[in-house]
Amino acid sequence: YYIILYYIILYYIILYYIILSITITIRTPEMKKPPHSDDNNDKYRVKSQADNTVMCQPKKHIVFLKTHKTASSTILNILYRYGESHNLTFALPLNMHSQLFYPAFFAAHFVEGVRTRSVKEFHVLCNHMRFSSQEVRKVMPKDAFYFSILRNPVAMMESLFVYYKAIPAFRAVKSLEEFLIQGGRSYNASVPNNHYARNILTFDFGLDNTAPENDTELDRRSAEVIAAMERDFPLILISEYFDESLVLLKHALCWSLDDVSSFRLNSRSERSRRPLSAEIADRVKEWNSLDWRLYQHFNATFWKRIDSTLGRTKLQQEVELLRAKRRNLEQMCLQEGGAVDPAQVQDSSLKPFQYGAAVIQGYNLRLELNNDTRQLCQRLITPELQYTSALYTKQFPQLAAAPFSPPKKKTGIDRWN
Ligand SMILES: *[C@@H]1O[C@H](CO)[C@@H](O)[C@H](O)[C@H]1NC(C)=O
Ligand SMILES: *[C@@H]1O[C@H](CO)[C@@H](O)[C@H](O)[C@H]1NC(C)=O
Ligand SMILES: *[C@@H]1O[C@H](CO)[C@@H](O)[C@H](O)[C@H]1NC(C)=O
Ligand SMILES: *[C@@H]1O[C@H](CO)[C@@H](O)[C@H](O)[C@H]1NC(C)=O
Ligand SMILES: *[C@@H]1O[C@H](CO)[C@@H](O)[C@H](O)[C@H]1NC(C)=O
Repeated sequence: YYIILYYIILYYIILYYIILSITITIRTPEMKKPPHSDDNNDKYRVKSQADNTVMCQPKKHIVFLKTHKTASSTILNILYRYGESHNLTFALPLNMHSQLFYPAFFAAHFVEGVRTRSVKEFHVLCNHMRFSSQEVRKVMPKDAFYFSILRNPVAMMESLFVYYKAIPAFRAVKSLEEFLIQGGRSYNASVPNNHYARNILTFDFGLDNTAPENDTELDRRSAEVIAAMERDFPLILISEYFDESLVLLKHALCWSLDDVSSFRLNSRSERSRRPLSAEIADRVKEWNSLDWRLYQHFNATFWKRIDSTLGRTKLQQEVELLRAKRRNLEQMCLQEGGAVDPAQVQDSSLKPFQYGAAVIQGYNLRLELNNDTRQLCQRLITPELQYTSALYTKQFPQLAAAPFSPPKKKTGIDRWN
């Protein structure tokens, strides 16, 4: 009798364990899920899936406001290469000029093919101009994507001073320090070309760059500048975070990382760079008070955009991927594996334009490249002026060949960038 009772109890105990183990097995898949997933990452994954499969179409109508001394030449090269390989049409300056008649306000008829109506559709507008929303809209399709790039006004002014040393405001002084300590005495806002010396970002966006007289005025004017920029430009990149900017651009345009992989173009050699003291930096911020305000604003919105879309982890992963791609391209294309001083550039047609006291570096291609690789590598290192001329010649072969409009010998202001 006891033995029977013992077996019954044993039976229930075994049954209990069987049921328990089944329950655990059923619940296991759920429990195997990673304990935590980064909130931002999740958001990105959802967005990215949609982006890359159904909803995201690579953008082909693009307006890039090219600003000065902000690494914008590298972005120009990216746009040129993408446009060239996708048969896009560029809104190029009239008569093979390299700029859209900067510093005059942009006008639709500055673009080759507008007056003659010989171009049906423009895809990309990206050469130097002083922005005018109304006139740009006359040239570019309604769905064009507008973006630009800003740089910290402190580093930017050091760069501008070296490059534009010949403008009236800078000509008479020995150093940027001297210029600022004198309170910009040699600066007269109404003298041509002095716009390079004060609030040039505000100027390039087509806005009033004169210095506000007091803080009330600065608050009002900078709010106006920021509002005007936000109305026209859904994306503002930041030069200090260049690779992060390229990743953001890639997502905004729905392009690939390969599309935004590039070498630094029109970049100064380290030797001609000079750090500024904290005191001078403060003076630069005060001198360029409008630019300093808008830089701070758009630096903050840049990071907010990253946090609300990609998330920093995913951003960092893509930045690393981009850098690896760049290293591969450098190894594949470049004889020295990197930039060299202009005197060492062997192919004189690939020598970057030199201006002011800046030493602008260039590149040498490896000799043993096959044709396809050579073409890719060549495009990566072609300086802005040469590339602009080449695209013009491709788009307007008859105009480029016409004896009455030879490629203008580019001197003076037209070549400044
Ligand atoms: C660009 O045009 C060329 C010549 O017409 C053509 O062979 C090529 O497939 C086009 N490429 C694209 C991406 O449309
Ligand atoms: C600034 O330049 C304008 C135009 O050249 C001139 O009329 C004016 O007198 C100058 N102002 C000063 C303070 O030098
Ligand atoms: C600030 O400058 C503006 C424009 O010059 C002027 O109208 C205003 O009265 C000034 N405000 C103060 C508090 O000085
Ligand atoms: C730009 O934003 C980053 C990230 O928030 C911050 O670390 C950096 O100090 C900002 N730069 C300036 C000049 O405000
Ligand atoms: C490479 O380019 C050269 C000159 O452009 C041409 O003569 C040659 O046939 C090309 N080779 C190949 C394999 O396409």
